[in-house]
Amino acid sequence: MNIIIRNETDKDYRETEIMTREAFGDLYKPGCDEHFVLHNLRKSKSFVPELDFVALHGNDIVGNIIYSKAGISDTEYNEVLCMGPLSVKPEYQKKGIGSTLLLRSLESARKMGFKAVVIFGNPDYYHRFGFRNAACFKITTSDGGNFEAFMVLELDKDSLMNIRGTFIPDKAFYSDKNELENFDRKFPFKEKHINSNQL
Ligand SMILES: CC(C)(COP(=O)(O)OP(=O)(O)OC[C@H]1O[C@@H](n2cnc3c(N)ncnc32)[C@H](O)[C@@H]1OP(=O)(O)O)[C@@H](O)C(=O)NCCC(=O)NCCS
Repeated sequence: MNIIIRNETDKDYRETEIMTREAFGDLYKPGCDEHFVLHNLRKSKSFVPELDFVALHGNDIVGNIIYSKAGISDTEYNEVLCMGPLSVKPEYQKKGIGSTLLLRSLESARKMGFKAVVIFGNPDYYHRFGFRNAACFKITTSDGGNFEAFMVLELDKDSLMNIRGTFIPDKAFYSDKNELENFDRKFPFKEKHINSNQL
């Protein structure tokens, strides 16, 4: 398949949000909030436009990856990247587009001098790219927790040496329920379903 990867522009935003809503809809809960997170992250100071990529098939956006600056805080604050959302249009999944977006953007992030990338995702998918449980680096969530889906990748050998502490993502990851519902009304109607795979 002929896929082109390029940086996203503001003209792409709406199409990418629609695609993200399709990719995440009913995946982790009935409906989703990732399109709202994406919308808010792009307006945040932490947004890194150089690492915002879309995958195109013809003129259609079929994938997107985005990064925001985040922190690991202990006695001092260290800047890292938080990756996500990453999404591929459902009918284009499992064709290598997600992997291409991830590898391409990680290489750019490394060249830009970032130390590490933190994600929340499916370990079965991300371990193949070298992501490891954040607990290996003594990094915890803001409430001191650790779990398999909370992972970290060093962008250079030992780039997190002597860095440990609490992960602090952009506040865009904490969606207000009412604001999300209002935002979601701007999209085509989509029924929400409960299913057994949801958290
Ligand atoms: C997860 C996602 C980004 C992967 O992109 P993709 O283009 O479908 O994946 P790729 O083609 O690059 O990789 C395919 C491989 O990953 C596996 N894979 C894909 N999605 C997976 C998932 N959610 N969990 C575990 N493995 C997954 C496939 O089984 C396949 O494995 P194989 O190579 O051993 O056969 C995409 O499926 C997607 O958008 N899913 C819905 C949204 C989502 O879950 N985003 C990530 C949240 S952290």
